[in-house]
Amino acid sequence: MVEVSFKKIGVLTSGGDCAGLNAAIRAVTAAAAGRGWEVVGLRKGHLGLLETPPEVMELTEDAVRGDLLRAGGTVLGTTTKGDPFAYPDGKGGVRDRSLEVLSAIQGLGIEALVVIGGDGSMRLFDRLLAPANMPWVGIPKTIDNDVPGTEFAIGFFSAVEVVGIALDRLSTTAASHRRIMVLEVMGRDSGYIALYGGIAGGADVILMPEVPYDLDRMADHVRHITHDRPSPVLVVVAEGVAQPAEERRKKANVGLAIARGLEARTGIDARCTVLGHVQRGGAPVVFDRILGSTFGARAVSVLAAGGTKRMVAWRGGLVTDIPMTDAVTGPKFVSPDSQIVRTARRLGTYLGEGLEPR
Ligand code: F6P
Repeated sequence: MVEVSFKKIGVLTSGGDCAGLNAAIRAVTAAAAGRGWEVVGLRKGHLGLLETPPEVMELTEDAVRGDLLRAGGTVLGTTTKGDPFAYPDGKGGVRDRSLEVLSAIQGLGIEALVVIGGDGSMRLFDRLLAPANMPWVGIPKTIDNDVPGTEFAIGFFSAVEVVGIALDRLSTTAASHRRIMVLEVMGRDSGYIALYGGIAGGADVILMPEVPYDLDRMADHVRHITHDRPSPVLVVVAEGVAQPAEERRKKANVGLAIARGLEARTGIDARCTVLGHVQRGGAPVVFDRILGSTFGARAVSVLAAGGTKRMVAWRGGLVTDIPMTDAVTGPKFVSPDSQIVRTARRLGTYLGEGLEPR
């Protein structure tokens, strides 16, 4: 196979941050430097490319040595704002600045790009780079784990770790007061964080957007597990879960609405904690360091092999790469028939209605 060589490649992070992004930046840099390629980090996603001069960071093996692997967030910065195809013009309208982004990349002498992002960012850069036909490879990241084509994305397990720790802490205070503790977690429209975090933290109820629930049946379950001995009850609710009908007009957080509904039905005191961005911050857990490292190294190998418009992916315990067309069909949802859902059911967790019997 003929190897392709580049003088200079770019790397950037795009979309919401998470833990493990720096591990990927480090790996891309080390793997590219090992081939004698120069690496330039592009700051603030595409936004730094709209500055004059473009905001960049020189990435050398020296620059990424040390604590970068362990550091949370992204050393390059990132953005979820300012769609370059419909960029706010400051007068209430929008204008297309996509070609400015592309010419800034080319003006920096960048010949190929590694985009670390979710499926929205993959779609964005596919469109941005198309006019120049520039080789590029994507690395999936998101705490929501909703990027299609990969079993896991960078950042997911670090968020799950935070949920597990939160449930450990909620369980002791729940036990002292014999309360129902509801924990609302992130995940957008997918229930992965709730499901994995709930299993790890021993939740009695896990609600995901993918599975409909019934508050009366959920309350029956709570009564069932508390009837012969008053005990703490842990409930995990994904932020994307539908509001209970009785609370729809109040616009409360869905976790709070579920807590009120359970308290009213069971007579057990209930409290709600909304975990929020704590799930995105802090140092990556080891698996996210491994994902970041293997994904980063693989992305460079894909470019070197002449690959483009591909996304690196984790499948069956191995790193691989897939066509970008298979990665932008998202978002990915939890399958109610999956093994991990069956596992939660067998543990006696209430997951909602319409699932196979335990
Ligand atoms: O997509 C990651 C995520 O953290 C979601 O889980 C959450 O709904 C959203 O981003 C929060 O976005 P922001 O940081 O813009 O508030």
